[in-house]
Amino acid sequence: MDNIVNITVVDREGVEHQLEAPTDMNMNMMELCKSYELPVEGTCGGMAMCATCHMYILSDHDILERNDDEESMLDQAFFVKSNSRLGCQIHIAPELEGLKVQLAQV
Ligand code: FES
Repeated sequence: MDNIVNITVVDREGVEHQLEAPTDMNMNMMELCKSYELPVEGTCGGMAMCATCHMYILSDHDILERNDDEESMLDQAFFVKSNSRLGCQIHIAPELEGLKVQLAQV
């Protein structure tokens, strides 16, 4: 379908969820997970201030670069790895087709 990318999210129990993500609704990965009722709280509403949307990038998409706010939030988060991102800072875009992420423990 047009304007849809397929994204796999592995939850904290290791269960894989196949999500269809619209690229034309200005959504981010935190909002997408919430819309599928996955356990992502997004307490700060996407301001990079809570880390409840912490996730790991498992596929080889080139989206590991963090912005400054994200970097300082992740500095204070637990279980941070080199492939950690804040879901709210990942904008859903066509180049995310096939993305696979795993939700981090909170
Ligand atoms: S929703 Fe709070 S840091 Fe992403």
